[in-house]
Amino acid sequence: MARSDQLKALLRAHAGDDSEHFYSVALQVAADEARRGHVRLAAELKELIDKAKSQREVSGRIRSARPIPLAQPKGELGDLLTVRYPTEHLSEMVLAPPVQIRLQRVLREQRSAAALMGYGLSPRRRLLLVGPPGTGKTMTAQALAGELRLPLFTVRFDSLITKFMGESATKLRLVFDALKQTRGVYFFDEFDSLGLQRGSHHDVAEMRRTLNMFLQLLDQDDSDSLIIAATNHAKDLDVALFRRFDDVIRYEPPDSDQAKTLIQNRLALFMTADFDAGGVVEAASGHSHAEIARACTDALKDAVMDGNDRVTSDAVIAHLEERAQSNRG
Ligand SMILES: Nc1ncnc2c1ncn2[C@@H]1O[C@H](COP(=O)(O)OP(=O)(O)OP(=O)(O)O)[C@@H](O)[C@H]1O
Ligand SMILES: [Mg+2]
Repeated sequence: MARSDQLKALLRAHAGDDSEHFYSVALQVAADEARRGHVRLAAELKELIDKAKSQREVSGRIRSARPIPLAQPKGELGDLLTVRYPTEHLSEMVLAPPVQIRLQRVLREQRSAAALMGYGLSPRRRLLLVGPPGTGKTMTAQALAGELRLPLFTVRFDSLITKFMGESATKLRLVFDALKQTRGVYFFDEFDSLGLQRGSHHDVAEMRRTLNMFLQLLDQDDSDSLIIAATNHAKDLDVALFRRFDDVIRYEPPDSDQAKTLIQNRLALFMTADFDAGGVVEAASGHSHAEIARACTDALKDAVMDGNDRVTSDAVIAHLEERAQSNRG
């Protein structure tokens, strides 16, 4: 092949993502160079090709070593798990420093899993998130999955308990089998339904059995999936539960610094010049992250619908007050 044809063939192979063809043309180029007496260049080209090929094989092996057989879970499992691939990041969250530190540590250990395992150490992967509504527990599960590029499986505890009375333990076992098979973040939301609701109409003995089974499975589990459980009420939970987790992370409503950051993050591009951030932060006192975020979004929506995209502090305060009233009412 003439040099110009080789170049075109290389480009076509590259554009068509045909790496076999790409390397074979590249090898021809090297051979031609050798024939022209450019032995050094030919040797360098050959070395580059070999290296690129072997890297590709290694990364191919790594990729194929862990198939992610992911679609929506099927059959019985489909009733218990929902899956999504989150795109959230921790940097989008406004968190108290101790929470931030703990979550960063989880990420760091997960990302260093291979090195840790080389020393017989295992990365943290069992978290219990405790805190009032709207403080970011669910968002944390999403952000950890997003950061680690793992699927997020949410375990529907309610359906586990209510629909499958008498066989909850069997179903729970199914979930733990899945967790071994497909690496992911498994989020046991509204975990309370297992630990609590003693006075509810559900069979208390059944709940106890399921909770015990959960603890047992949690103990036995040696998968590389992350298990995240979340609850609103810590005090009623069994102490036995706490011991099984690598970390128990407590979420609180935002302090004034956090509230300010949250408002800034939401509205930075849309604030009026005389936006009274201090006044909004004051009005936000006692509200959860979720409520503050919603008030900001609602104020922005109003502004957009009114034909401009500048939000006044009064508008945000009005939405916060409306929320406070409906909470009281
Ligand atoms: N710490 C936070 N930083 C930034 N945004 C937050 C934070 N917490 C909550 N939000 C906002 O509020 C929404 C709802 O929060 P989330 O669902 O994570 O709360 P939660 O703690 O799981 O509440 P619940 O106990 O009711 O399940 C999030 O999607 C996000 O928009
Ligand atoms: Mg939640």
